[in-house]
Amino acid sequence: MKKFLTIFILLIIVSHSVNSQESTTIKKLSDKERLEWWHEARFGMFIHWGVYALYGGIYNGHEQARGGAESIMNRCKIPVAEYQEMAKSFNPVKYNPDAWVKMAKDAGMKYIVITSKHHDGFALFESKASPWNVVDATVYGKDLLKPLAEACKKYDMKLGFYYSQAQDWNNPGGTVARRLMKEGWPNPDSTKIDIYTAEHKGHWDPAQETSTFDEYIDGVAIPQVREILSNYGEISVLWWDTPTRMTDEAAYKLQELLKLQPQIITNDRLKRPNFPGDTKTPEQKIPDQKELEGQNWETCMTMNGSWGWRDDNKWKSTETLIRNLIDIASKGGNYLLNVGPKPDGTFPQESIQRLQEIGDWMEINSEAIYGTKASPFGILTWGRCTQKTENGKSILYLSVFDWPENGALKIQEFNSKVVSAKLLANGKKVKTSIEEGNLHISLPSSAPDKIASVIKLELASEFK
Ligand code: GLC
Repeated sequence: MKKFLTIFILLIIVSHSVNSQESTTIKKLSDKERLEWWHEARFGMFIHWGVYALYGGIYNGHEQARGGAESIMNRCKIPVAEYQEMAKSFNPVKYNPDAWVKMAKDAGMKYIVITSKHHDGFALFESKASPWNVVDATVYGKDLLKPLAEACKKYDMKLGFYYSQAQDWNNPGGTVARRLMKEGWPNPDSTKIDIYTAEHKGHWDPAQETSTFDEYIDGVAIPQVREILSNYGEISVLWWDTPTRMTDEAAYKLQELLKLQPQIITNDRLKRPNFPGDTKTPEQKIPDQKELEGQNWETCMTMNGSWGWRDDNKWKSTETLIRNLIDIASKGGNYLLNVGPKPDGTFPQESIQRLQEIGDWMEINSEAIYGTKASPFGILTWGRCTQKTENGKSILYLSVFDWPENGALKIQEFNSKVVSAKLLANGKKVKTSIEEGNLHISLPSSAPDKIASVIKLELASEFK
């Protein structure tokens, strides 16, 4: 009896210690802890890829007049059967996720968010919920997200999934953000289709209406979100998009699934306004300094004129992209910069070149970006400022866009003592002085970096 009692007590002790161990590992993170890596990161890569890359913005020889190439199916009202026929030839034989992740890493990006399913409903992953996925609907026949998740793990890159939860133009019952017909529709019968879509909440093909929205949510969206949150290891971001005709009920169900990845960060596009998520998502624009102050925000932006691959001539210069990154960091935000891979699985050469050039700048100057906070100053006419606090002392990073011809740079109302001042580009010291409450910096005659030269100022105390 005594023996039994001892064993019994031992069992209680063991099970108790296992439980308490478990409860420490699954301890709920605070919002601040959950978002810590994201704030530190500041810079990520968006990837828009799918069947639409096969079109590259051209349908039946007609250039899509407006919108990103990823929405060609809706813009040109391509029938479901025709689009799915096209998908069969999707065969990205040059897909090399290891190279993708390496390019992001070398550019200084800390996370990747890829379209696991865009509005055309095509899943880049193996799915039991719908045959409209890369494994079942294309000649390629392999899951595209698995090897990407592996590469991200290898390079210590955070991975996030974009998922279009409401719009779906192929899986029946999904909604459509209605586009007007005139936008590049080459069909002479376009007016007829326009009337049809108006009556049918944007649907242009009866095949899209063989299920209800609720059936689509329960039969496709929910099981697929469960799949992407279960089958690819740790997922750091769920990036919802376009809550067209979302219901509260559907949003609750989708939100519940996020528990599968307790550390996950989500955006504000699940359903507006009552599902705010963690992050605001200004699109193609950088907010004014005060606009989103104190909030978690991320500007997503294309490098050219389209999210999905399109061979246009609207490429932003490397200078613009680097200055955007600095501008965003100086306002306390993140930059999610898009690449639209080609149908063969390679990045466009223009993107590769820009990523490399951003990487060259980051190699020298990234400490002015990572883990920094918004500028303590108002608008600086010659550039931007980011800041950090280390051991109670401030470090200011001044990114100079317009190098002063006379070498004199001034910041007004500056009352802190500067301990050291140097240029990150070449490590050279620069002279500073405080006169009548203004900081004066005297710089060499020419800029060490034409795009943005960073001056690192270490202060004796916290900047106030
Ligand atoms: C817009 C585009 C969509 C894209 C998204 C990214 O909503 O219509 O195609 O995925 O921006 O933020």
